[in-house]
Amino acid sequence: MAGRVLVLGSLNVDLVTRVERHPRPGETVLGEGLRRLAGGKGANQAVAAAAAGADVAMVGCVGDDAGGAAYRARLEARGVDVSGLRTVEDTPTGHALIAVSDDGENSIVVVPGANDLLDEREVAAVDTLGPGDVLLVQLEVPRTVVCTAVRRAAGRGARVVVNTAPYAALPPDVVALADPVVANELEMAALAEAGAEPRSLLVTFGANGAAWDGATSPAVEVAADEVLDTTGAGDAFCGALAAALARGDERDTALAAALAAGADAVRREGAQADPEL
Ligand code: RIB
Repeated sequence: MAGRVLVLGSLNVDLVTRVERHPRPGETVLGEGLRRLAGGKGANQAVAAAAAGADVAMVGCVGDDAGGAAYRARLEARGVDVSGLRTVEDTPTGHALIAVSDDGENSIVVVPGANDLLDEREVAAVDTLGPGDVLLVQLEVPRTVVCTAVRRAAGRGARVVVNTAPYAALPPDVVALADPVVANELEMAALAEAGAEPRSLLVTFGANGAAWDGATSPAVEVAADEVLDTTGAGDAFCGALAAALARGDERDTALAAALAAGADAVRREGAQADPEL
């Protein structure tokens, strides 16, 4: 029987506009259109894992606003268990201000809102995990909470996948418990500079594929004119990877599924499939 995937992380309302090119510091450019889309690295990964067939629970916080209510309903409609999703009073749901340029590249400013308020209550959800289950975390919520959850899940025999996005230094024991740490090239460089020693390291290289403990896999090819938006491609990768690992897939199979999900993600607009909030 497949294990469960528990995603502890952020949920954001993404406010997205398209730009011909990104502004330089101090410069103003005009954007075209403004969409409210479902985002946040945690929820993006949860939705991707659910789309890949996993039994998924999302643990995190939203505010007591329209965005938070819409997000809860959205996850429920996708079969994601939201019993560990807390609504925080008098606090806005997290937001991300995103500009996407014509070549599909994005720039993102995150305003954390309720994502900053995860605490011991969210960590407690990890106590439902056991061998065969997967805890998937990123670093868009308080690091102390992430670290405690990782230690607790690993102590219960669950597999832990740590996506080091956005990059922040982690204690050596947390890095060593992850199987794997998932990092992009910049995060890998930061990990190396910090002297981190992952037990298992999966590095993503965008269009150039990925390497898991040095074994490389090519990306699924996507023609340049098919790349609409790279936002959330890494999240789709992580969600599909966690789903495959919870199913018991071998590394090669899991990595192939993750690369395929990442490629699909760049062909659509927004960080999730059907992202309108
Ligand atoms: O990884 C993409 C995500 O980063 C966006 O959905 C945005 O909300 C930020 O969290």
